[in-house]
Amino acid sequence: MSERKPMIAGNWKMNLTLEQSTSLVKTIVKECGRLKGVEVLVAPPFTALSTIKEAIGDSGILLAAQNMHWELEGAYTGEISPKMLVEAGCSHVILGHSERRNLFFETNDTINLKTEAAISTGLVPIVCIGETLDQREQGQTSEVIREQLEGSLKNLLERKNLPLSTILAYEPVWAIGTGKTATPDQAQEVHQFIRHWLDENFGSRAARAIRILYGGSVKPGNIRELMSMPDIDGALVGGASLKAHSFLPIIRFQEN
Ligand code: 13P
Repeated sequence: MSERKPMIAGNWKMNLTLEQSTSLVKTIVKECGRLKGVEVLVAPPFTALSTIKEAIGDSGILLAAQNMHWELEGAYTGEISPKMLVEAGCSHVILGHSERRNLFFETNDTINLKTEAAISTGLVPIVCIGETLDQREQGQTSEVIREQLEGSLKNLLERKNLPLSTILAYEPVWAIGTGKTATPDQAQEVHQFIRHWLDENFGSRAARAIRILYGGSVKPGNIRELMSMPDIDGALVGGASLKAHSFLPIIRFQEN
């Protein structure tokens, strides 16, 4: 039995009104609060964090932001600091999502600073990595993944110290929002590569404990098969996390 508890995380991206997100989270709390075998997390937009925190109450559902700045405060117009996320009730933060990398020019260097800042502020980082279709077709997947891991975790790597609560998310860019899921074997192959990399760089304890989520067109119909793979520890769900009718069965994948 794996020591890693499965996590199902919903990344709502720039979607849902306050009313819609409150109603969705209330349904999740009612149907899936306090589930034993799975951790459930939601990542609403910044403006909904405090409201969703209140709706979550003591149900055990976890709250994440989708991004943050690496400084704790200062003259950074338009940015949100890790301290502010803690104040809003977040325990986790998604960092380096491919939409941030590709559309907002985030680099491994800034993701490294953010990862470090998240950890020192007491937030659990969910660090995203993943190759494009072009990179996969050129046979560069492992190289790209290794580069992203080395760059995004650079400071931690230098200190050889990765908190065991850290979460990694493998999201092949070509599978995000496209309806094209990586096959369970394709995803497992990369997850296994990441786990070996963790073993080589942070030791076997870290490799055994750190969860690696899969993201990219996860749906009620493919979650079970993905979760049957030994190195897939959960899912980071986009589109299907926006509606209770698709998110709840994903959370309850063990029961189907
Ligand atoms: P989709 O589930 O919509 O493909 O999005 C995946 C994702 O980007 C989660 O972070």
